Amino acid sequence: MRTLFKNIKELIQVRDKSVVFVSGKVMGKLPTIKNAYLMVENGIISDFGAMKNCPKVQADETIDAKGKMILPTWCDSHTHLVYAGNRESEFVDKIKGLSYQEIAKRGGGILNSAKKLQQTSEEDLYQHTKVRLNEIIALGTGAVEIKSGYGLTVESELKMLRVIKRLKEEFNLPIKATFLGAHAVPTEFKNNKEGYLRLIINEMIPLVAEAKLADYIDVFCEEGYFSVDETGRILEVGKRFGLIPKIHVNQFTSIGGVHAGVKHHALSVDHLEEMGQEDIEALKGTQTIPVALPGCSFFLGIPYTPARKMIDVGLPLALATDYNPGSSPSGNMNFVVSTACIKMKMTPEEGINAATINGAYAMGLEKEVGSITVGKRANLILTKPINSYHVIPYTFGNHQIEHVYINGKAFV
Ligand code: NIG
Ligand code: FE
Repeated sequence: MRTLFKNIKELIQVRDKSVVFVSGKVMGKLPTIKNAYLMVENGIISDFGAMKNCPKVQADETIDAKGKMILPTWCDSHTHLVYAGNRESEFVDKIKGLSYQEIAKRGGGILNSAKKLQQTSEEDLYQHTKVRLNEIIALGTGAVEIKSGYGLTVESELKMLRVIKRLKEEFNLPIKATFLGAHAVPTEFKNNKEGYLRLIINEMIPLVAEAKLADYIDVFCEEGYFSVDETGRILEVGKRFGLIPKIHVNQFTSIGGVHAGVKHHALSVDHLEEMGQEDIEALKGTQTIPVALPGCSFFLGIPYTPARKMIDVGLPLALATDYNPGSSPSGNMNFVVSTACIKMKMTPEEGINAATINGAYAMGLEKEVGSITVGKRANLILTKPINSYHVIPYTFGNHQIEHVYINGKAFV
């Protein structure tokens, strides 16, 4: 099956396969081809270039993209897409002045979601998550990472990860699974955190690894959740079982989580709303990519990740939604890119790089998605007719997507 997209006003994010992520000043450059063609064969990008060089071959389907642009689909490297119920009552509490931490202290927060999830059947959980996955694909996401962490018991953590496995099997989409047993200390272990750590280390990690249910391991390294030492213990064991670290750090406090991530060769350190100079320094020259989650800052009213400072000292940055019921109940990457531009002062070029090629790297999918590159999947966004790609982040709360193609096939 061969599909030709012709007369593309601008083909965005064209890269050689040697580029796996972009950092510093290079983030400000977005390579494009104006008046371009793009050829897709059996779901894979097979050729692209300027329209004047378009080969005269027979295509099964030809799409005239006059006035429209094509870019790779968004790569959302941090989500908690599997959850049960919602936390809209906490949303109202927040409006009335309670903080995220105060809500958690009252038994709300992650423990509230865990209670709901433990009482939900695997089938219902799958069906609810599937709705959300379809929703985010329609908003332009073509690769996603999904975490456990609302189970907090052996059985419920495995249940969440099996739901992710089923999504991987039923959607022909790159999906990565992350085990986040250390998301919060469950009520039963309130006075016995060591007991919960042992449960994670001695039972959960071996079972998750044995059933090949996760690619990555995550810890919520934060005051009131898991300390830097506890994070280190969990990551060490996870690594022995082949799980690569990808961790929650510096959301509310800077307690050394970034250093721990770098020390344990984390693929990514995520959140970073509270960044000291030493945290920024620790990331320089490493393979650990920082990931900002502006939807969470927006929803909780906490600081935004200091993207400018980080990019200006030469770091890379990825953007993701953090889609979850407590701190970011939205999986809209278009909004994330807009917010990064408006609130974090990232340029549209930086925003699009952060949400595509860098997002792909942040979930180990840089060989498959994240750019218009021969050999990568044809997971594409075809825009509505637009004047320039700056319109994409400019029209915040809206989107410029006409169609989303997954493996070369129109999804919506
Ligand atoms: O990434 N901070 C930790 N975990 C999630 C929020 C989880 C929740 O509140 O349900 C986050 O923000
Ligand atoms: Fe998160």
